[in-house]
Amino acid sequence: QTNQQWGGRFTESTDAFVQEFTASVQFDQRMYRQDIAGSIAHATMLAEVGVLSAADRDAIVAGLEAIRGEIERGEFTWSVALEDVHMNIEARLTERIGLAGKRLHTGRSRNDQVATDIRLYMRDAIDAVLAELRRLQGGLVELAEREAATIMPGFTHLQVAQPVTFGHHLLAWFEQLKRDSGRFSDCRARLNVSPLGAAALAGTTYPIDRHRSAELLGFSAPSENSLDSVSDRDFAIEFCAAGALLMTHLSRFSEELVLWSSAQFGFVDIPDRFCTGSSIMPQKKNPDVPELVRGKVGRVNGHLIGLLTLMKGQPLAYNKDNQEDKEPLFDTVDTVLGSLRAFADMVPALRARPERMRAAAQQGFATATDLADYLVRKGVPFRDAHEIVGKAVRLGVDTGRDLSAMSLEELRGFSAAIEADVFDCLTLEGSVAARNHFGGTAPHQVLTACARARAWLGLS
Ligand code: ARG
Repeated sequence: QTNQQWGGRFTESTDAFVQEFTASVQFDQRMYRQDIAGSIAHATMLAEVGVLSAADRDAIVAGLEAIRGEIERGEFTWSVALEDVHMNIEARLTERIGLAGKRLHTGRSRNDQVATDIRLYMRDAIDAVLAELRRLQGGLVELAEREAATIMPGFTHLQVAQPVTFGHHLLAWFEQLKRDSGRFSDCRARLNVSPLGAAALAGTTYPIDRHRSAELLGFSAPSENSLDSVSDRDFAIEFCAAGALLMTHLSRFSEELVLWSSAQFGFVDIPDRFCTGSSIMPQKKNPDVPELVRGKVGRVNGHLIGLLTLMKGQPLAYNKDNQEDKEPLFDTVDTVLGSLRAFADMVPALRARPERMRAAAQQGFATATDLADYLVRKGVPFRDAHEIVGKAVRLGVDTGRDLSAMSLEELRGFSAAIEADVFDCLTLEGSVAARNHFGGTAPHQVLTACARARAWLGLS
């Protein structure tokens, strides 16, 4: 038996393996809600312009809503013989309501249908991503407020550089996520145009109202060009690009959590519920969540390259190649949402260990730059100050002491400009408090940055 949707032209039925091989219903059925919404909008518009009778429209809308119920209750039988989500639902509609079901596809093709469905799906996916991003950002701000004055070593080259506040470090992560949020919003705005009415590629002979179907689906406008409408998958690539960058940020964040939760650093404690143990080593508590998120960036990067390669060299307009867009896209959605969810749950539960952070900041001569800046304030040119402090650090390295542990006489041996007030700038508190400008690490600045972050999130 030939496929009922196009059997007319064919003299034999599709090879069984080819049917399986070319089908997409196994993975595109997740767009059933969007497919049904698109069909309802299409039918509504067709009735308004007089292409469909009101009775047919009512039967279609009621039938599609009933099918949505069947799918949601797990009563719907998906058939590979019907290839994809679109034809499965349409065939079931005809089974339920008869002739009116056969009229639904008037002035439409699966090419504009699938383009519409994915855009609707991605719009919802982006809204979910933005919500999880916000939740994670909210957690970071709260933690940053609590840890605004907690001193830790700041690193460059993973070597102790200068003291910073933990709150300041948390807000650095917040900024990365703020840019991610902007990229996803931008992607959403650009994908939010309606391909419906482009039909197979050239538009349709019916007096359709593309503005109306766009409006019914919450699109900002109909897409401009019918050929572009059915062949464009830029939005899929943009989403994966934004996802790859977000995952890159989360992997960097993860790496720090993995390091910091180790016995060697001991800066943070990740609650047990986010960790797992070892089947052989009874003492182990492994930071699985950050490790796994650090690893998951790989598949998202892969999907981005996969989609770029999929689209490369495709002639206009629709090609079956495009069916390959869904699995990488959906996996990116799942990976990004899952990673964000895990982080949004975990971050508010992180426990800082200020004493460990402080002890680490006291090693590595974190206040050496402060001493150089002190000398500059006393009139010493910066390059000379750098040299003087370098020599003092050398003595510290040789004798195993921090600068603050040296006597005034010892320090004056390096420069006569050094006076008793030097010890104020050699303390960790003095060092961070002195960086008291917009974007700086001083506790006061961290709190004002938290207030700006709250305002950005629309929190009070
Ligand atoms: N399942 C197809 C896809 O995912 C739907 C569009 C098919 N159109 C066609 N002319 N074969 O792209």
